[in-house]
Amino acid sequence: MKIAVPKETSPSERRIALVPQGCKTLVNKGLTVSIESKAGENAGFSDENYTQAGASIETSRRALFSSADCVLMVSGPSDDDSEHDLLANLKEGCVWISFIFPMSNPKTVKRLAEKRITAFAMDLVPRISRAQSMDALSSMSAVAGYKAALIAANSVQKFLPMMMTAAGTLPPAHVFVIGAGVAGLQAIATCKRLGATVEAFDVRPAVKEQVESLGARFVGLGLTADELEDASGYAKEVSADTYAKELELIASKLPRCDIVITTALIPGKPAPVLLTKEMVKLMPKGSVIVDIAAPNGGNCELSTPGEVTQHDGITIVAPLNLPSEMATHSSIMYSKNITEFLLHLVRDGQFYFDMEDEITRSTMVTFEGKIMHEPTRLAMERGITL
Ligand code: NAI
Repeated sequence: MKIAVPKETSPSERRIALVPQGCKTLVNKGLTVSIESKAGENAGFSDENYTQAGASIETSRRALFSSADCVLMVSGPSDDDSEHDLLANLKEGCVWISFIFPMSNPKTVKRLAEKRITAFAMDLVPRISRAQSMDALSSMSAVAGYKAALIAANSVQKFLPMMMTAAGTLPPAHVFVIGAGVAGLQAIATCKRLGATVEAFDVRPAVKEQVESLGARFVGLGLTADELEDASGYAKEVSADTYAKELELIASKLPRCDIVITTALIPGKPAPVLLTKEMVKLMPKGSVIVDIAAPNGGNCELSTPGEVTQHDGITIVAPLNLPSEMATHSSIMYSKNITEFLLHLVRDGQFYFDMEDEITRSTMVTFEGKIMHEPTRLAMERGITL
């Protein structure tokens, strides 16, 4: 079985789906790996590193794809790819594994089905213990949370730790993290390591213990889990009444914040707006908002996804691809996730799709010309795009 790994096509994407260590793992399992020349360069891996790990190097993308049984990528094809068609040269029945975000890319899903490609979305790996080693969204969110804290530290006009100097004692910066999931917890941990005082808010009371274990103060709404979590432990959309209380609570915190990091997400929905234009005005001049929910629209009403903007002396950073800015470690983590995922689909050197298995079933987007991911199929039938 031949596994192909192309260079990522987005100009801002520095990661690669498979690092030399992952390549070795697949080769040791009897798979053949071919890498597009210079595909790993931006993440710090040379063609020579790959040949030493047992891969061959291919200079032509067309040749790489037309002979592939399986393609591994980070950012897969998307509805925004107007000038190139990544899928053009693939064989029928080829297995495609990458981030796909099928609900946001219905045209791509349709094309995958028409080309009879068997596509799996890494963004659909369920957050269950058995799939933890394949959970690329969590890996990338951890990178994003860490990097968000560093961007905030770099943008604010203050020290993060308390400084006792001959020129006087300076108090630590105060950070408020909104949304304490994977990215939020990593942002909290990083700000704490840098010496800031940290408070964190989340609608789910279950995260209180995790926030406190990192040395931060948890701020909650005092509601029960039933009102705020679904059966799988994810946040639900809150009622209008709870939303109003939430904004009031966040607003009460803002006047003393030097840094606000927002990470709130409800899976399959646009990011909830938790910092309105009026609320931002409550923050001190020189303070910073890092809104990492920007890829889903942003938690701050004033965020411009992909840009850094200034509003009345407050800096708002709304980054779209933080994992790409730490391409070496992000690629190492993603490569481990995708290697584990691929091996989960392979038995005796061949693909074997066990549709009784939750991981296989929930990640499969298209198979034999059909759209297998039900929420995407239903959304497409109703003409809804997220
Ligand atoms: P997660 O699901 O682990 O955490 C999200 C948290 O938000 C949950 O704890 C949830 O309870 C909380 N939440 C939901 N609604 C809320 C509300 N109304 N108020 C307060 N908290 C609320 O998600 P994860 O993996 O931490 O990702 C967080 C965000 O980071 C996502 O929007 C994701 O797209 C984004 N992200 C951004 C990247 C970038 O480069 N900008 C890279 C990776 C992830």
